Amino acid sequence: MAVLEQLTSQQAIELENKYGAHNYHPLPVVLAKGKGVYVWDVEGKQYYDFLSAYSAVNQGHCHPKIVNAMVQQAQTLALTSRAFYNDILGKYEKFACEFFGFDKLLPMNTGAEAVETALKLCRKWAYEVKGINENEAEIIVCKNNFHGRTTTIISFSNDPVARKNFGPYTNGFIKIEYNNLEALEAALKNNPNVGGFLVEPIQGEAGVYVPSEDYLAKAKALCEQYNVLFIADEVQTGIARTGKLLAVDHENVKPDVLILGKAISGGVYPVSAVLANDNVMQVIKPGNHGSTFGGNPVAAAVAMAALEIVQEEKLAENAAELGELFRSELSKYIETSNIVNLVRGKGLLNAILINDEEDSDTAWNICLALRDNGLLAKPTHGNIIRFAPPLIMDKAQLLDCVSIIIKTLKQFEK
Ligand SMILES: Cc1ncc(COP(=O)(O)O)c(C=O)c1O
Repeated sequence: MAVLEQLTSQQAIELENKYGAHNYHPLPVVLAKGKGVYVWDVEGKQYYDFLSAYSAVNQGHCHPKIVNAMVQQAQTLALTSRAFYNDILGKYEKFACEFFGFDKLLPMNTGAEAVETALKLCRKWAYEVKGINENEAEIIVCKNNFHGRTTTIISFSNDPVARKNFGPYTNGFIKIEYNNLEALEAALKNNPNVGGFLVEPIQGEAGVYVPSEDYLAKAKALCEQYNVLFIADEVQTGIARTGKLLAVDHENVKPDVLILGKAISGGVYPVSAVLANDNVMQVIKPGNHGSTFGGNPVAAAVAMAALEIVQEEKLAENAAELGELFRSELSKYIETSNIVNLVRGKGLLNAILINDEEDSDTAWNICLALRDNGLLAKPTHGNIIRFAPPLIMDKAQLLDCVSIIIKTLKQFEK
């Protein structure tokens, strides 16, 4: 079989099943093309993408400005490693630092790598600035977190599927309830070894759990009180997804360490970043950390284009407006529905809770029916379906999607 031969959906699925490790359970749809809010399968059927590659494609599929930036840079200089300087990384670092309001940026590739970077940064700060005794630093994390898949990160996950048989686990983490300030204060009090608090401003993978209105601001204040770094993992919530540039902006919180990934590249290339001010980032010295691809010229060009689009196309404003519309339309339907219990979210990061057991396959079956009706979404956990379309969607498209979703849900009413 020639590599470039056009496959049918069935053939493509069989190839992945036979030759790929089975570390995912994809919805059976084989995509061959994407543009804006749409994707097409190999048979040419068009769908609304209501997942956006887990919020990486906020700017829409194959945004021409990002693709052009990528192609031009790839044709000029793609990779130098950090053994040498290149003429675009510094420009990108300045651009992104000004864009997000920090002194310095450390470039990486994937979200998990950026989280690892933030954890290392926090530990080093804890020893060298806060003065914690060697090897005694602890970082507070939240139950039901999702921060990625590395050995250290899954060490503080409480998802048994992500953890089991991957031990021994990394020490130095204290797990507390999410959205519980008393639990945070109890963990901080009388524990001088805490260096940081790592938190998702909205827990995306856990099912789009939005914390109480002042949770982040009060958590930040507690961190300040106890001289602990507030580390915001905005890999999924950042880059306009929730209706502000960052989800912490809803509460005017400035993290000490900001973790970004996914949509910082518009989804065309793996780009992630950790941002902090000099008082924190200065602990990182040559040789402490790095990545062959981190901060490569293509990543730098792509990320600048992707961030410019966020401003030029007012993606945060659009996400805020369409998100309100989405939740209000679905809420109206839910009043009379016996298949959906609630809709929750912020901006265009939303989820519905299906009225069935957590381990039922109803949400999966609804996603199959949504697919048949021309819209792609995926359950997060059992009975929760996340809805996260590209942020370039317009109102007419959103209303079209709402009617597809409601029509589909009606098929499942009991
Ligand atoms: C909040 C959060 N952090 C980190 C990650 C990991 O990112 P990546 O899959 O690029 O490693 C994710 C991915 O879904 C995420 O949602």
